Amino acid sequence: MVYSQLPFYNYVRVDSDLINDIAKAINGEYSAISCYGKLAKNAATEKEKKQILEIRQDEVRHYQIFSAIYMNLTGKQPKPEITEPCPKNYKEGLKFAFKDEQETVDFYLDISDKAQDPYIKEQFRRAAADEQNHAVWFLYFCTSL
Ligand SMILES: [Fe+2]
Ligand SMILES: [Fe+2]
Repeated sequence: MVYSQLPFYNYVRVDSDLINDIAKAINGEYSAISCYGKLAKNAATEKEKKQILEIRQDEVRHYQIFSAIYMNLTGKQPKPEITEPCPKNYKEGLKFAFKDEQETVDFYLDISDKAQDPYIKEQFRRAAADEQNHAVWFLYFCTSL
């Protein structure tokens, strides 16, 4: 091990960690966009449907912001995939969404902490706040069924 090279290797490793995390975040947003489109179709009331579609719009915005960051860092387009399909049953779908939103808050705050770039930090911090708000809505829908 050549110690003088450590900072360099460290930097590269952290950066590829960040890129992996952002790719994972993009897949998560992509999955949520698909899932919430299905949930909105099965919504119990018009009001609920409208709220789910508003949440879905937030995810579209996150998806666009994260994809732009990814392209900036890698010079490549992301290739999003649905990593976790949402349950078919409406109530199960709401529970799944609630849990997923909560986990995403932690994940995005981690990314925000790890990132060096102030723009990336800020975007993930803001997205985490949105996901927190989404989690509250899904919890509310779960309890009002
Ligand atoms: Fe999101
Ligand atoms: Fe969300």
